[in-house]
Parts: sequence; structure tokens; C-alpha cells
Amino acid sequence: MYIQWIVLFASFGQIFAGWTPERIVGGQSVKISSVPWQASLQVWGEHDCGAVIYSKQVLITAAHCVVGRLPSILTVRVGSSLWNSGGQLVNVSHYIAHENYHLPANESNDVAVIRLQKPLRFNKNVKPIPLATTSPASGSLAIVSGWGSTGWQMAGSTNLLVVKLPIIDYESCLKTAYQGITDDMICAAAPGKDSCSGDSGGPLVFGDQLVGIVSFGRDCAHPTYPGVYADVAKLRPWLLQAIKRIQQAKQHIK
Ligand code: ARG
Repeated sequence: MYIQWIVLFASFGQIFAGWTPERIVGGQSVKISSVPWQASLQVWGEHDCGAVIYSKQVLITAAHCVVGRLPSILTVRVGSSLWNSGGQLVNVSHYIAHENYHLPANESNDVAVIRLQKPLRFNKNVKPIPLATTSPASGSLAIVSGWGSTGWQMAGSTNLLVVKLPIIDYESCLKTAYQGITDDMICAAAPGKDSCSGDSGGPLVFGDQLVGIVSFGRDCAHPTYPGVYADVAKLRPWLLQAIKRIQQAKQHIK
């Protein structure tokens, strides 16, 4: 029994050691008007992660994009296909990351909600997206977008990129690749296509609903390791409750 635990933790360690923060691979340029819910989450004015517009003042992102950061260094750009110009740039007022993110020691519950200092102005380039109520079936063709790297350890893209990926069923993702994934995660992969570093926190969309948030992966477009996304339908109760709390909160909540 004891030995089994050691083996289990050692393999976790190995998997997580390879999970460096990465950035879309095998995608194409897209206008923001085709994914108007996409936002760029910036640290000191530099693109760092993706985020998703839920309402005029609330966005959703990955917990690992915000945890440990002061809200005052964070801004969000929406309504532009370029992360560094155009659209609307708004300061973050505070955020709530999932309380069980990083407990015990994996990437479960990798979601957070962000509140903006000023409401966004909605138009054809700036629109919210509803949260999925059911997880996508395996084989569903979902789209993921972002300004992240175009290959493992490559530079990010100034232009917004998008790629279509099939959802991989949980069992085979679990069996063939990551042993540490939990049931609040979904996997998606296709040869030569993936999300990558700098796409984290961004949207995975199927049927005009937000089904996933870019979370992690081993390298990018790795032949046997799919991209892993926080499963929005599974995390929906937490998200709705956190959105309620953040709308009432006056200041940053840890
Ligand atoms: N953790 C990465 C980030 O911070 C996202 C990685 C997604 N990786 C992948 N192979 N799908 O940007």
C-alpha cells in the first residue's frame, strides 16, 4: 500500500515537472468578431493569458493566470484581434480564484473569475458567451483561440489565432496520457494542432457555449499528450456562485 502511494506520487511529480507554462499551434488568423468573447489578460501591459467575457463586468480565466498576482497589475483588452492595440483596455478591480485550485498538488479547479473596474461596452466585437450546462461529447469539434505561442517554446502571436480540435474522451485521455487528470478536466487534441503557452485562461467553445478554459498540457501538440481544459459544465456551480460573490464584493478577495 505504502509503496503504491510512493509510486503514485512519483509519477505525479514527473508529469507535473513537465508542465511548464506554455502558449495556438496549427491555427489560423481570425477576426475578433468571430470570437467576440475572447479577451487578453495582461500583466504590466503585456499579454500573459486569455480570458472570456461572461458579462459587462465579469470575465472568466484560469486560476493559474491570476493566483499570486495583485489585481492592480492586471488589465484586460477586449474587442481587438491584436493583443497590443485597439478595442477596449480596462483595469481589473479584483478576482476570485477557485479555493481548491492546487490542492492537493495538481491542476484541478483551474478557474477564476475577474471583475473589471469599469463595465465593457458591448458591440459586434465585444460579446459575452454562455456557460455550457453539459460537458461536450467526445468527438465534438470545439474551437480554441488565443495569442499564445505557435509551437512549443516559440513566440506568441500578435494576431489572434484559432484552431478546431476534437474532444477526446476522458477515459482515453486518462489512460494514454495524463494519469493525474481529474473529472473536472476535458481533453482535446489533433495532430499538429493545440493550444499552447499564453493561451491559458482562454475559451474552448462548442455549440456557441463555453465548454472549457485552457489549462495545461505537456509541450504543445505533443503526439501523445492532449491539451487539457477546465470543464466548464462541471465547474459551473462554483463559477455561478463566485460570479455572485464578486458582483457584491467591494475589494480584492483572496
Ligand atoms: N499553461 C499554459 C498557459 O499558461 C497553457 C498550456 C496549454 N497547453 C497545451 N498543450 N494545450 O498558457
